[in-house]
Amino acid sequence: MFKTDLLKTLAMSGVALTTLAHVHNHSITQEINDSHPFIVIGSDMADSSKSLSSFTVIENHGDSKIAIVGSEEKGQLSHIAHEDHKRCGGYFAFETLEKAQNFVKDSKVNAESTQKAIFADYNLDQRELVESKISLADELSIRNTILKLSSYHNRYYKSQTGQDSQAWLKSHWESLTAHRNDVTVDYFEHDSWPQKSVVATIQGTEGGDEVIIVGGHADSIAGWWGQAGKKAPGADDNASGTATFTEVLRVLAESGYQPKKTIQFMAYAAEEVGLLGSKEIARSYKAQNKNVIGVLQLDMTNFNGSSNDISIVSDYTNDAQNTFLKTLIDTYLTDLTWATSRCGYACSDHASWTSQGFPASIPFEAQKNDMNRRIHTANDTIEQSGGTAEHALKFAKLALAYVIELDN
Ligand code: BES
Ligand code: ZN
Repeated sequence: MFKTDLLKTLAMSGVALTTLAHVHNHSITQEINDSHPFIVIGSDMADSSKSLSSFTVIENHGDSKIAIVGSEEKGQLSHIAHEDHKRCGGYFAFETLEKAQNFVKDSKVNAESTQKAIFADYNLDQRELVESKISLADELSIRNTILKLSSYHNRYYKSQTGQDSQAWLKSHWESLTAHRNDVTVDYFEHDSWPQKSVVATIQGTEGGDEVIIVGGHADSIAGWWGQAGKKAPGADDNASGTATFTEVLRVLAESGYQPKKTIQFMAYAAEEVGLLGSKEIARSYKAQNKNVIGVLQLDMTNFNGSSNDISIVSDYTNDAQNTFLKTLIDTYLTDLTWATSRCGYACSDHASWTSQGFPASIPFEAQKNDMNRRIHTANDTIEQSGGTAEHALKFAKLALAYVIELDN
């Protein structure tokens, strides 16, 4: 059944039968590159990939395409993605056409309706409270968290150090909130890999039905396919974001802020291998019908690569909430400037929430073209950001303003 469908598709797109045999001879037990001939790429990459002799598009899906490519040319595809399109892994590979189709469907589901819908009251009326909390955000606290997280050999989703770093983060959050009986810190465990996500919850005083989420991925990776043994400090990607929302938690907890709505901080596992941790959590929240009124993603906040301070990513995010963020900057962070930028694909965990129908945004460290080029290497250290957390501090202030204004 699958084979005849594939045959038809390939015949229509003019792929030689030798290629088909080639595709079918791959078994899932082979090396990952060889067993995943079906790739999903952004339309922007399709043109520059045409030069590869084995590259054939078999389905068009708006912004993305499903194609096949021989394992020998996968390295070149990564190169094209990385050099021409400033993309990291660059493409997603699957064992079967069906899996590739499901992936495409999944990232589109609800995305369009979510884009335009309004989920919350975005009026600003908490100037005094916001200003007093913002003044407590501290560069050195953020810097120290970045230094601690990036001191692990890597935080890869399958390595022991990737589990140890999450255990450290959990106990750090516990010690920051030990004096509060309305705060819990839990693991969210994943069945298919060892690294856990960590979730801190400040229970809302008004019943806690509505939830505000601030998160980012805590894992790191070296190279495109990841290797458990490789050094990956991930200081910018994404110790920076994790340290940024850790600071938001510290300020709110230490200053005695008792939210009306429930606030959750989420350090996702396994983002670097396909948004896996956040995808499971967002799906579980959807299945439980949780009333999430806003999701803020912090992924890469400490490399000051552009003339503007904060880039609001406009794709796979919620328009109304993005406008809210711009208004927060204009109102409370008046010495900062913002611009918009596009990722072009589902580049981080905000996309997991968007595809489940929740309103998500990602304020980013720079324009996409000016981003930190050392990510996913052994050189992703805080030194690349001047050795301080000055840039990340701006994002901690924005996230504080976001939480407080959404809560009230
Ligand atoms: N931190 C990056 C996301 C990112 C990269 C945002 C560049 C904006 C510009 C993230 O950790 C990452 O590496 N994402 C992957 C995709 C993911 C689904 C594996 C990427 O960009 O290739
Ligand atoms: Zn990354």
